[in-house]
Amino acid sequence: MLLKVAPAFSLLNTSTHGENLNPLFSSAKNGNGFMVYASKATNHKPLTGVVFEPFEELKKDLMLVPTVPQASLCRHKYCDDCEAVINEQINVEYNVSYVYHAMFAYFDRDNVALKGLAKFFKESSQEEREHAEKFMEYQNKRGGKVKLQSICMPLSEFDHCEKGDALYAMELALSLEKLTNEKLLNVHAVASKHNDVQLADFVESEFLGEQVEAIKKISEYVAQLRRVGQGHGVWHFDQMLLEEGAAA
Ligand SMILES: [Fe+2]
Repeated sequence: MLLKVAPAFSLLNTSTHGENLNPLFSSAKNGNGFMVYASKATNHKPLTGVVFEPFEELKKDLMLVPTVPQASLCRHKYCDDCEAVINEQINVEYNVSYVYHAMFAYFDRDNVALKGLAKFFKESSQEEREHAEKFMEYQNKRGGKVKLQSICMPLSEFDHCEKGDALYAMELALSLEKLTNEKLLNVHAVASKHNDVQLADFVESEFLGEQVEAIKKISEYVAQLRRVGQGHGVWHFDQMLLEEGAAA
C-alpha cells in the first residue's frame, strides 16, 4: 500500500487501514494506495514548518494583561532594573536642581547682587527640574512607578577665598553637569544591558546631546572667569550672562 503523507505530520494521523483519525486531514484512494493530504478547508498550517498563528500569539498576550488594579496595564518589556535606574535619575536631577536653586538665592542677595549669575542659576534649576519631570512622565509611560527619594541639603555660601564666588560656583556647576552625564550614561548602560532599545533611545535623543552641550558651555564660562579674575571682571561677566540668558 502506498501511503503518501504530508511532511511534518506523523503516520499516527491515520490508522493502519488508512482511516482518517485527524479531522484536519482528508484521505482519498489513489490507485493502489492512499494519499493523505492536508485539507484545504480545515487546515491552515503550512507544510514548511513555519507557523504563524496570530490568535495563538494573542492568547499569550491576553494572559499578560493584569486584572489587579494596582498593576500597570501598559507595562511591557520593562524590567525592574530600568524602573529603578529611572527613579535614581529623577533624584539626581532634583538634587542638581536644588543646588542651582541655592546658587540663585546666593547671587540674588542684596550684598552679592550678581543678577546675571542669579538668572543663569535660576533658569538652570528650572531646567533640571523639567528633566526630573520628563523622567517621571517616562516612568509612567512605561508602566513603572515613580518613587521620589530624599534630596540633600545644598550649600548656602559659595564664596571662596582664592577663586571668589562666581568661579567657585561655576566650577561646582561644571562638576555637577559631568556627574549628571555619568549618571545618564549609566541609565543608558542599564537599558542596553536589558536590551531596552526604547529607553536607550529616549536617553540618547532627549538628554545625552544636550548634556554634552551644557558641559561645553559651562567649561567656557569657567575658562572666562579664570581669565577675568575677581572684582570688575566678574561684573562684566555677569552683565554678559544677563544679556545671554541661557540655562545650563
Ligand atoms: Fe539635567
